[in-house]
Amino acid sequence: MNTFKALVVEEQSDGSFQRAVREWSTEKLPDHEVLVEVQYSSLNYKDALSATGNKGVTKNYPHIPGIDAAGTVAESSNSQFSIGDEVIITGYDLGQNMLGGFGQYIRVPADWIVRLPKQLSLRESMIIGTAGFTAAIGVHHLQHNNVNPDSGDILVTGATGGVGIMAIAILSKLGYKITAATGKMDQKTFLHDMGASKVIHRDEVQDETSRPLLSSKWAGAIDTVGGIMLDTTLRETQHNGTVACCGNVLGHELHTNVYPFILRGVHLAGMDSGNCEMELRRKLWEKLAGEWKPENLEQLSRECSLQELDNEIDRILKGQQVGRILVNLTD
Ligand SMILES: NC(=O)c1ccc[n+]([C@@H]2O[C@H](COP(=O)([O-])OP(=O)(O)OC[C@H]3O[C@@H](n4cnc5c(N)ncnc54)[C@H](OP(=O)(O)O)[C@@H]3O)[C@@H](O)[C@H]2O)c1
Repeated sequence: MNTFKALVVEEQSDGSFQRAVREWSTEKLPDHEVLVEVQYSSLNYKDALSATGNKGVTKNYPHIPGIDAAGTVAESSNSQFSIGDEVIITGYDLGQNMLGGFGQYIRVPADWIVRLPKQLSLRESMIIGTAGFTAAIGVHHLQHNNVNPDSGDILVTGATGGVGIMAIAILSKLGYKITAATGKMDQKTFLHDMGASKVIHRDEVQDETSRPLLSSKWAGAIDTVGGIMLDTTLRETQHNGTVACCGNVLGHELHTNVYPFILRGVHLAGMDSGNCEMELRRKLWEKLAGEWKPENLEQLSRECSLQELDNEIDRILKGQQVGRILVNLTD
């Protein structure tokens, strides 16, 4: 039996939830093919929901959240993976209904695993994490629909958040001109440093009128917020533009109209990082390790330990995080 440290969330008899760093055992991990010693994880919005008892994300407690994990294979009954292999696991059910990356060990099905690409360290892979992988799906949608650097400006909403900042960093590396929409105007310099050419207040992307179309501003967009910001973005997108959306920060409802689609040919592309098929998943991780790899990964992230994670979870729930939080489990 191997015991290890993990951030464990427990449901109390009064229905509340408490979290604390505790000892856990590899015997209490699910019965899958590959045991991974986790060196790094990262904090995503969904982890905060799981860590606070959101039953839409995690049905049963006690639970270890963490939808991201990177580390080395410790045991494998699958011939594709050997002890010592460096691997990345993001999404699927990890950290949701399967014990996740906020523990020093996870046990997962082999077909959830991506080999760490050359040119990427385990640490870098988790600065990128689900947020960066999701941003990469968005960039893939833009490219697929011929939204190129010379097509015009790209809007990124929720710009200081994990997906937002990674979208800016990747798009900037590829030569796109980016407008960042944020509620944190005090982070303007940071957003410029990450690659945004223009920073606007998020209120400018919240049109409350019922006008079906607004002046065209964007060749494309990566929207992480949803709600009225997604609706406004669709109405401001130019002919044949693409809006990739992944988030529900403003709730799950979308009230819009058909004119952006039928008069401007706007594409609305969904991003589902959790269930992205393996072929595209591997291809995007290779790009993230190569031509799409942001040069400023350390600058856009902060590191925390398992013990410090509690406070970071509160901050992400309040929309106060700036950039990515890397979780170091090697202590
Ligand atoms: N579908 C997928 O595969 C997938 C993958 C990853 C994430 N997501 C979803 O995408 C969203 C963003 O994830 P994340 O990890 O980037 O979260 P995050 O780090 O918490 O970023 C969210 C950002 O949204 C902005 N925001 C917060 N409150 C807002 C409000 N009331 N109105 C407008 N903007 C607000 C903030 O940026 P500013 O202060 O800069 O405006 C905040 O930093 C979440 O809903 C998450 O669940 C989906």
